[in-house]
Amino acid sequence: MRTQVAIIGAGPAGLLLGQLLHAAGIDNVILEQRSGDYVLSRVRAGVLESGTVRLLDAVGAGTRLHAEGLPHDGFDLLFDGVRHRIDLAGLSGKHVTVYGQTEVTRDLMELRAGQGALTVYEAEKVALHDFDGDAPYVTYLDRGEQKRLDCDFIAGCDGYHGVSRASVPSRALKTFERVYPFGWLGLLADVPPVSHELIYAGEERGFALCSMRSNSRSRYYLQCALNERVDDWSDERFWAELRRRLDPATADALVTGPSLEKSLAPLRSFVAEPMRFGRLFLAGDAAHIVPPTGAKGLNLAASDVHYLSEALREHYAERSSAGIDAYSARALARVWKAERFSWWLTGLMHHFPDHDGFGGRIQQAERAYLVSSPAAMTALAENYVGLPF
Ligand code: FAD
Ligand code: PHB
Repeated sequence: MRTQVAIIGAGPAGLLLGQLLHAAGIDNVILEQRSGDYVLSRVRAGVLESGTVRLLDAVGAGTRLHAEGLPHDGFDLLFDGVRHRIDLAGLSGKHVTVYGQTEVTRDLMELRAGQGALTVYEAEKVALHDFDGDAPYVTYLDRGEQKRLDCDFIAGCDGYHGVSRASVPSRALKTFERVYPFGWLGLLADVPPVSHELIYAGEERGFALCSMRSNSRSRYYLQCALNERVDDWSDERFWAELRRRLDPATADALVTGPSLEKSLAPLRSFVAEPMRFGRLFLAGDAAHIVPPTGAKGLNLAASDVHYLSEALREHYAERSSAGIDAYSARALARVWKAERFSWWLTGLMHHFPDHDGFGGRIQQAERAYLVSSPAAMTALAENYVGLPF
């Protein structure tokens, strides 16, 4: 088989890239190691920047998002028992949209299937070859049968644990990493959200986040130790701990119910540079990870594939390699700003081991400054709604 761009991974990065390339008349095939149902069963991001919504609209994947997504003009930071509203719309002139990653993925999958574009699910043993030369190709097993996909370019959109970044010789990569001494335990339930906007709570017992998927489905998170096991958290234990991390009025308003899903995610900041090696490009979590506090991971995947699709369009339509040559630097410039923001908001809102020492006092000062300074709140709002791309 032959295609112009072989895309590895059918997460948001791979599926959106597929649509952007399709819209530019560039042929592509997606190879995904899991089944479509498995991809749709992963509960992850919930907050879309307006730039991400714009891209989804541009490829024709925005209809359900506009009908069912919830525009949010602000969110609350809670500490010392007080909720402080960050007026995103007033401070930045923009809003974010609450619409689950699962739904974004479903919309993109359906669009792709409707166009008859090929996605090979359950592709096993995906291997990348000769991307440092002019004729790269990818091999894989399709229902036990060995296949070969020849292409002009390979887009590695296969997440943090994928094969693409792992295929690059380590001497060609420089990585930057910060691992946090805690994780997030998430719970999804069909109960109305405790508040119509998100609440990021940074109390003594640890961070908690009140989020949602709709007016009848809530998503909550608790900061927890890295050695916690999901099985040790009954729904009752989760709800009781969440209540303790909220102010009394919010805790009283909390509606609980049986969980639909619970999962644990470690928190990490990670960047691999560069994002291009010959004819292989990395995009999304394959190249970088942010802690979820800033709600940036999916949105960075979207800006990466925007830059990459522009570069490839330029290559095919104008025979110019300028975009391709600039891709890594352009993407990384935005990535590092989101890394900084996500690291900063994580530090501001979580309970760290040095809470009783210097770090704790700096955190208190930072919070007090933030809620007293329109300039500081504007900087938070500007980053949260998404820097331009
Ligand atoms: P992925 O979604 O990881 O997709 C990669 C795909 O590649 C997968 O389908 C995988 O099965 C496939 N794959 C892997 N290896 C191979 C292989 N060898 N061969 C073929 N296929 C392979 N981001 C936000 O923007 N906002 C949020 O509110 C937010 N909240 C989050 C909350 C949590 C708890 C977590 C864990 C993440 C959150 N994120 C958020 C981050 C966001 O989910 C990720 O950044 C996003 O999924 C990245 O998309 P991706 O397509 O790059 O990677
Ligand atoms: C979510 O709803 O899953 C979510 C929202 C905001 C975040 C992270 C996750 O910062």
